[in-house]
Amino acid sequence: MTHSHLGEMLDLDAEVLTEYHRDVIIWVGSLTPDRPHIIDLGAGTGTGALALARQLPDAEVIAVDVSEPMLEHLRQKARTLGVTDRIRTVQADLDQPWPNLGPADLVWASASLHHMADPGHALTQALATLRPGGVLVVTELDSFPRFLPDEAGAALEERCHVALAELRVEAGMHMGEDWGVRLAEAGFTVEAERHFDIALQPPLPAAAGRYAQLSLQRMRHGLDGRLSAHDLATLDALATGVLGRDDLTVRTTRTVWLARRP
Ligand SMILES: C[S@@+](CC[C@H](N)C(=O)[O-])C[C@H]1O[C@@H](n2cnc3c(N)ncnc32)[C@H](O)[C@@H]1O
Repeated sequence: MTHSHLGEMLDLDAEVLTEYHRDVIIWVGSLTPDRPHIIDLGAGTGTGALALARQLPDAEVIAVDVSEPMLEHLRQKARTLGVTDRIRTVQADLDQPWPNLGPADLVWASASLHHMADPGHALTQALATLRPGGVLVVTELDSFPRFLPDEAGAALEERCHVALAELRVEAGMHMGEDWGVRLAEAGFTVEAERHFDIALQPPLPAAAGRYAQLSLQRMRHGLDGRLSAHDLATLDALATGVLGRDDLTVRTTRTVWLARRP
């Protein structure tokens, strides 16, 4: 999947799961002091950074990502939303020694920690970057979204997810970790862990079709030899045909941890 496809998928995630994103931003926004300094780690196209800047009109936000194309996309969105004066982008690999980003009142890491080669390093750096009493919010996907409502489609999606989970373990990715434990080990006080079970039913906005299509195509990548030729052909056909469907659902689970620097 290219950067632009991943970027499009992140934007669609924000659009299709609006209610979930809004709930989390309102919750987290209520915990910040006046004029908060906020850092978004692995900001991608800026779902978190931009939503926090809009929710908190006196916040200053630094969006950090290793990918310059992601940050350019984020800057364009910031211009459209009129928040460029309060958002700065920093290109950095968070697995390396960090640039000076703090002191921060809030560090936000959404679906990014599992990408790090060494999340422990990132958590230690995040702790050092926060002011005492500052908050780190980690959000992670327990499972990638599922879309197909029928039994055969759902069973195929399940086989894909199982194969992909194996692939991620082999690649050394840190999906599905108990981040509460990792946060405590890094020296944080974990104050909350909230699970969001999302189950959107039709009718869904048109964006859901494209979100499903990109998600299925993304799953397809890397599955050669891991599923039967029949399953792979069915997956290809589903990804092509999913755009026009009006029976799709969106089922996913997200967990949000809220941890404080003592
Ligand atoms: C799944 S996306 C999540 C983006 C965004 N936080 C969101 O919730 O929509 C993960 C992001 O982490 C970034 N990333 C991965 N490894 C990184 C690293 N070592 N340093 C900085 N950013 C990284 C990727 O470029 C990507 O934009």
